[in-house]
Amino acid sequence: MIGKSIKVFDELDSTNTFVKNNVANLENGAIIVAKKQTHGRGRRDNKWVSDEGNLYFSILMTSKKDRNTIFKQIVQSSVSIVRTLNHFKVKASIKYPNDCLVGKKKISGVLIESSGSSKIDYIVIGIGININQINFCDLDEKATSMKQNLKKEIDVGKVLSVFIKYYNQILECNYVETFNEYIKKSVVINKVITYNNEDYKIVNIEEDGSLIIKNSSAIEKVAFNEISLKELY
Ligand code: BTN
Repeated sequence: MIGKSIKVFDELDSTNTFVKNNVANLENGAIIVAKKQTHGRGRRDNKWVSDEGNLYFSILMTSKKDRNTIFKQIVQSSVSIVRTLNHFKVKASIKYPNDCLVGKKKISGVLIESSGSSKIDYIVIGIGININQINFCDLDEKATSMKQNLKKEIDVGKVLSVFIKYYNQILECNYVETFNEYIKKSVVINKVITYNNEDYKIVNIEEDGSLIIKNSSAIEKVAFNEISLKELY
């Protein structure tokens, strides 16, 4: 269960960094929220601009897990975000592995960090959801928010509590159902990519997160770091 302990800060450098620095003092499932972040971090060392008005939070998971369950965390958090957005009448899809889109624009991102080698000591799931931001400057063509879609201000705390409700439901239910929902909401299926200088169509996502790609002469299974998905979106 997540969210038994929720701590809200007016400002942090990054909620993920805070959780990583305070693992010893936080319980399994604890949530750290910041109203704004001064050094919000995205995937691939990108910056996550974090002005007030959006949701920035991290969840700590300390129950021991195998490294291959990281993709499971990706699936569970992405589906929880989509369900949360749908709850507020925002129609969203999943951009593999774990961005959420409205149309072609990104509305949320997830940064998962872990410690430990084969057995994981802890996982930090950091989530940013664009809620009341209206101006994305040079990212205007690529990013959107709930407010831009709904034309009204949204209560950030309500979005968090709806997310927690869905995430806890998902933790209780059969993983295969959640995984099937992830596939259904994913926009990567049927897209064409280049792998080893040949064109392939993505036909499926496996439970371990690898992609099944196919062309007229071969079917391949590739890990998600083996291909560039840049061209897809
Ligand atoms: C991405 O799409 O690149 C991932 C963005 C993740 C941003 C969230 S905001 C809360 C948490 N704290 C951070 O510093 N990053 C994540």
